[in-house]
Amino acid sequence: MGDNSLIEWKTVYSVSIPAIDAQHQELINLTNCLNQACMNGTESGRIYFQKVVHELVQYVKFHFSAEEKLMERIGFPGLAEHKKEHEHFVKKVLEGVKNFESGKAIVPNTFVRYLLDWIVTHIAKTDQKYGAYIADNKIKVLPEDV
Ligand SMILES: [Fe+2]
Repeated sequence: MGDNSLIEWKTVYSVSIPAIDAQHQELINLTNCLNQACMNGTESGRIYFQKVVHELVQYVKFHFSAEEKLMERIGFPGLAEHKKEHEHFVKKVLEGVKNFESGKAIVPNTFVRYLLDWIVTHIAKTDQKYGAYIADNKIKVLPEDV
């Protein structure tokens, strides 16, 4: 189970808001941990997977609400659409966790691959939109906006 293809945060992913960039790095970091946990097919690997997946769920919720708060503060017109993407992802993650915990034969590797792909695509494409909006409108983001 699992594969070695860890993902890395790259400077091109930057939304030019240090606090958000740091959150994206942590999100990637947690998902990489999950990927590693997949490679360990033992009972302790399963327990570790469960622990990290819960951390990830908490962090995803924290991060999404920080982003949504920011988009609201800056009057970003794409907020509703962006929120929908977040909600869809949270739903998929919770579904995966539920299946995993009910002992359903989910393939953790496929689940983690989905998480990695979604997170990278979202950071690289969707999040760039509010980054560009901030830059285009020369909005000054204050620490309390994030
Ligand atoms: Fe986002």
